[in-house]
Amino acid sequence: MKREYVLQHKDRPVAELTYDFDFNAATSFKALDEKRLPLSLPPHGARGINDWIENRSIPTTRKGFRELMAKAGAASAREYLLFNLGLSLTDCYWLRPKDEPLTWGGVNLFANREWSDSLVRARGGRSTPDASLSGDQEKYWIVCGGEICLMKFGDGADGQQCVNEAFASLVHSRQGFANFVQYGLTAVRREGEPISRTACTCPLFTSENRELISAYEVYASRKKPNDTSVHEHFISACAALGMDQKEIRSQLEYQTLTDFALTNTDRHLNNFGVLRDPDTLEYIGPAPIFDTGNSMSYNLPALDDRAILKIKTPALGATEAACLKRVKDASRVDAAKLPTPEDTREFYIENGVSEERAAAITVNYKKKLKLFKDFIRTGSIQGAAGGINHRL
Ligand SMILES: Nc1ncnc2c1ncn2[C@@H]1O[C@H](COP(=O)(O)OP(=O)(O)OP(=O)(O)O)[C@@H](O)[C@H]1O
Ligand SMILES: [Mg+2]
Repeated sequence: MKREYVLQHKDRPVAELTYDFDFNAATSFKALDEKRLPLSLPPHGARGINDWIENRSIPTTRKGFRELMAKAGAASAREYLLFNLGLSLTDCYWLRPKDEPLTWGGVNLFANREWSDSLVRARGGRSTPDASLSGDQEKYWIVCGGEICLMKFGDGADGQQCVNEAFASLVHSRQGFANFVQYGLTAVRREGEPISRTACTCPLFTSENRELISAYEVYASRKKPNDTSVHEHFISACAALGMDQKEIRSQLEYQTLTDFALTNTDRHLNNFGVLRDPDTLEYIGPAPIFDTGNSMSYNLPALDDRAILKIKTPALGATEAACLKRVKDASRVDAAKLPTPEDTREFYIENGVSEERAAAITVNYKKKLKLFKDFIRTGSIQGAAGGINHRL
């Protein structure tokens, strides 16, 4: 079965496409309004729109993916997304079946909150924002005290990734840094589960007037010269879109520095971005820092001095040391205000992490803190990794 869709930005038609449900892919695509296309989308050819739809869909690696698709009655994550009109709570794009006279006012998830009545909304239909919720961790949009919030669960029994989010929030507030999403911890016991699990929640930072454009989209908006780092390319792409280069650099460097201290191994290009006004298309500035869950050695044992320097990172450099190399002003983070190893151990134990895990977290954090302070003092990391001096 084939169906015609219009890619909409609120009530503005942006492109037309044909979706073939038998092949589970768009087979034709035509831009109608090039300036409103998602930045990564070429104006012609179906390949770009298929990548865009795939990136907007739940990843197949999501915990409980098969059960979710079965409950939703969807054959695939893409189909689930299309059942839900491609709507999202992070931006104002959606996919309107061409023969249906739907309006943004009638369908958007910010204002129409029928989806908010239960935690697990696996049914098909046109009202769940979870069909476009990316990322591997189990998570749901909820409405709490009248506010839309994201609720995330961790992978392991102790919910360490959630505690990490709360710890990162503590770090940012102690630094006096304002542009981050505040995560809180909660215990959730769901029907059929014998015990409660740790979850974290944070308020929605997007709205009908502020949409998130991921760093990936910004990155893809212009060609990266071979001799330019991802870090510098992102900054110059932001500047080309009209943002204040100094402000972008300042936040990116702060983020890289705190990610190093927190050993965040997941700062990929969909884990930071910028905010845009969807009506005027004006770029506002860096989005608040979010998603620091995969940090604080959540999947690592206590490491020795050599191994601690080899931790891999996904986008802004191959290793943590390579990411730090891009930072021009290390004074953006005040090392004296970072939690001490002992405070850190207590924080994790108080929030339900086992003593054994808390010990491994603290051993690694203590080593990172020392390296971090060395870096701020000398501009280099003196490492024992294979005798390599990580001069930056
Ligand atoms: N508070 C928020 N307000 C608006 N959008 C958000 C918020 N938190 C997360 N998002 C969006 O939801 C996506 C998934 O959330 P998040 O990155 O926290 O999940 P994750 O499972 O940890 O992801 P990953 O695959 O990076 O591990 C984000 O990439 C972002 O687009
Ligand atoms: Mg993420």
